[in-house]
Amino acid sequence: MQAQFDPDTERYTVVVSKTFYIETFGCQMNAHDSEKVIGTLEHEGYIQVPDEAEAGLILYNTCSIRDKAEQKVFHRLNEYKRMQGEGKKFAVIGCVAQQEGERIFERAPYVSIVAGSASYRNLPSMLARLEAGENRITGLDDRQTDQTFDTEFTVRSNPHRGYITIIEGCDKFCAYCVVPYTRGKERSRTSASVLVEARRMADQGFTDIQLLGQNVNSWRDPSGRLSFAELLSAVGNIPGIRRVRFTTSHPRDFTRDIVEAIDATPALCDHVHLPVQSGSSSVLHAMSREYTREWYLERMSWIHAAKRDISITSDMIVGFPGETDADFEETITLLGAVRYDAVFAFKFSPRPNTPAVHMADSISDEVKSERLRILNDRQREIQREHYARHLGQTIEVMVESFNPARGQVVGRSTQNKTVNFTQAEGLSQPPIGSYLPVQITRTMPNCLIGEAAPGSVPLQATRTPQPFVVLN
Ligand code: 5AD
Ligand code: SF4
Repeated sequence: MQAQFDPDTERYTVVVSKTFYIETFGCQMNAHDSEKVIGTLEHEGYIQVPDEAEAGLILYNTCSIRDKAEQKVFHRLNEYKRMQGEGKKFAVIGCVAQQEGERIFERAPYVSIVAGSASYRNLPSMLARLEAGENRITGLDDRQTDQTFDTEFTVRSNPHRGYITIIEGCDKFCAYCVVPYTRGKERSRTSASVLVEARRMADQGFTDIQLLGQNVNSWRDPSGRLSFAELLSAVGNIPGIRRVRFTTSHPRDFTRDIVEAIDATPALCDHVHLPVQSGSSSVLHAMSREYTREWYLERMSWIHAAKRDISITSDMIVGFPGETDADFEETITLLGAVRYDAVFAFKFSPRPNTPAVHMADSISDEVKSERLRILNDRQREIQREHYARHLGQTIEVMVESFNPARGQVVGRSTQNKTVNFTQAEGLSQPPIGSYLPVQITRTMPNCLIGEAAPGSVPLQATRTPQPFVVLN
């Protein structure tokens, strides 16, 4: 904030400048992009503020994956409009920015920057133009770039668990999906660059790393050194790194050596998120997923046969154009065949530019809602039974927060399950980011409940992943 003297009125006015507020929607890629954008802005001398009222620049990092994302953005922008006249500047970034482009300026002329994710490395020059008084600055023309938005300025919000983007964009073009249009073509980072960042994070005290990409397992080392499974093992073997996850995988690129790497590398988490989208081969074909139900089930059999108890989670879409009752029934039977640990199910939502927008046989919203309800009910039944296998087990939990209302510590297992637990009386709350063995005393369909194992000591940022020693 600066005070500016106006000689005509002989008054000082407070100028809100070089402060920014950012609001983020969407997936983990977007969340991590915001961490990079924040770091870049801070490097350019901007200060992040927690309240939009205090900010000179308001950024809105948008998502367009489902629903009426564009309308929501314009609605939010209308609210921003009320703040006009206070000298504020507005930037719309992310997937809706890329999708709607300059139309945003037409509908919201007070917006100054519209930029898609593939142009964020040009943010410093966009900010310089903004500061020079320019309006209608766009960063939309870079979707075919070979470059990734890799920056040394990233400001990670969690000091223990951090993301690393290893691949950006998507070349799969599933019929329902906007991602190839909003995030451009696939481009991978070299294994050397990923490993340098992972080692740096380990040195800073991070113990949990999540490798990110829209299709994370279609990562190909531009230097040709490592396969995806080898990269997982290499990150997992960095001293200090205790947990490594990767998301989101595509079944097309899911190879057996990924399961072998998990079996062989203690730090790789017991969790694979492998979205199937539908249990019907004909719907999968219409979606251009390029695999069948049988092909997917074969990958599931590899995971089920692993030495470790690897949890499996999935995304599913109900009501894709042409999905019959029989197709939907195949999705329901798939739930029972795989026994997922969690499923994120969505009603099909037509997205601009995608082939599915023009497909006939659209399904009514009532039918979509009914299918979604049936799917979620069935999955809940399966989870209730499936989670019961953890009863009596002692599970390693990373401490995330404390729920004072319930007097419980909240953490996460290697399988990505929420574990709520209590400590033996007299023991202080374990530090956030520490690891603790917890004995499971009750199971619910969506979480596990337990008690810190007697005599256990919270473990912080160890240099090498070691099994816990429970002192009796
Ligand atoms: N309609 C409904 N769900 C969608 N998803 C992606 N695009 C659409 C769409 N048009 C879901 C998929 C994907 C998850 C991130 O969002 O299940 O895996
Ligand atoms: Fe949303 Fe997809 Fe963009 Fe992520 S990549 S923010 S899910 S549209």
